[in-house]
Amino acid sequence: MTNPRPLHLAVVIGTRPEAVKLAPLVLAAQAQPEHFKVDVVSTGQHREMLASMLAWFGLRPSVSLDIMKPNQNLAHITMASLGGISDWLDHNRPDWVIVQGDTTTTFAGALAAFYHRIPVAHVEAGLRTHNKLSPYPEELNRVMTGHIATLHFPPTSGARDNLLREGLSADSIEVTGNTGIDALLWTHNKLEQTSHTDQAHGPEILLTTHRRENHGDPMRDICQAVLTLLDTHPDLRVHFPVHLSPKVREVVMPLLGEHPRVRLSEPLDYPDFVAAMARSTLILTDSGGVQEEAPSLGKPVLVLRDSTERPEAMQAGTALLVGADPARIVREADTLLSDPAAYARMAGTQNPYGDGHAAGRILKRLLAHPRTTTLP
Ligand code: UD1
Ligand code: UDP
Repeated sequence: MTNPRPLHLAVVIGTRPEAVKLAPLVLAAQAQPEHFKVDVVSTGQHREMLASMLAWFGLRPSVSLDIMKPNQNLAHITMASLGGISDWLDHNRPDWVIVQGDTTTTFAGALAAFYHRIPVAHVEAGLRTHNKLSPYPEELNRVMTGHIATLHFPPTSGARDNLLREGLSADSIEVTGNTGIDALLWTHNKLEQTSHTDQAHGPEILLTTHRRENHGDPMRDICQAVLTLLDTHPDLRVHFPVHLSPKVREVVMPLLGEHPRVRLSEPLDYPDFVAAMARSTLILTDSGGVQEEAPSLGKPVLVLRDSTERPEAMQAGTALLVGADPARIVREADTLLSDPAAYARMAGTQNPYGDGHAAGRILKRLLAHPRTTTLP
């Protein structure tokens, strides 16, 4: 019997978190050339922030659409990605288009594949808040992507249950853990081998915020809460690697830029960010990926959002939803900075999002799936 030809995967990547979370899959597939042929299709929804992630993991896109514009709107991202990916699919016929998560690149990639009748595999499927305005537009991006996809790879059983409740068939779903934890553990191990990790002298908050729902007043409130914490904790330092979005910078720079104990930096390369998480005392973030990664490093997280599609860390007690309410942020951060027992309760290292082997499970399932050349 002859071996089948390698399974051809087109892996669509547009933003920083997609690069982090799809890198383990691409690298594992590339390590098995007898089984997989891989094309990375980059929309370039992000530019600099994507480039640094691709470089760290050594990913080289087969095509780079380079669509990013300053202060881009959602229609532009959708149209430019859909058009560019479709053009590429006109000349290339992968067996699968792989998309991850809930960005506009994710949805455009799934839609382009559907228009070419190519099956879609959705990595990090099934996350839901059940509120289509929060997070906006990600909740609808992931719902629509889920209904296009043929195979669904939810990170947790809770995410699987969301898909089942929407009527998707159980045999199209496999719980794998989150590939982001594969990336984190791989990177953290490398850092430990090179002694690239250290501890802060005195308490340090690592802060990130970028979500569209927090632009404007909520982000101002978050900054005010941080200023209050700095006033009441004279030894506290804050590190904020600031997202490149002008909507973030126009709020954050004037409010926090002059404070002697706040370090505003450019976005960090992935290993430097992992080292910053590891050295921090406490993390304040509205990032999805960061709240998943923090439990592996034993860091409590205050989540700067009103709703969550990631309840598992809250249930495990390592994360707390505080929104952008300054009084709440100050109260909860105060407790963690002042009460060692409260801190110890939140600093658990059990990670409900993965064990570092998600990519392998996904590739195994793709290989086991009956070969189709087109959607039925
Ligand atoms: C996007 C995703 C969000 C994800 C986030 C990760 C959508 C709708 N949103 O939001 O789900 O959590 O990425 O960070 O898909 N910019 C640069 N250089 C870069 C990246 C961004 O200058 O490398 C600036 C540009 O002015 C760009 C703006 O940031 O227009 C916003 O980028 P965009 O991708 O639209 O939104 P994000 O807030 O990054
Ligand atoms: N990250 C990074 N450098 C930074 C900030 C974040 O490498 O300066 C990483 C972080 O560890 C996580 C991912 O980027 O893996 C999260 O990206 P982001 O917060 O932009 O998006 P989200 O996860 O909210 O979609």
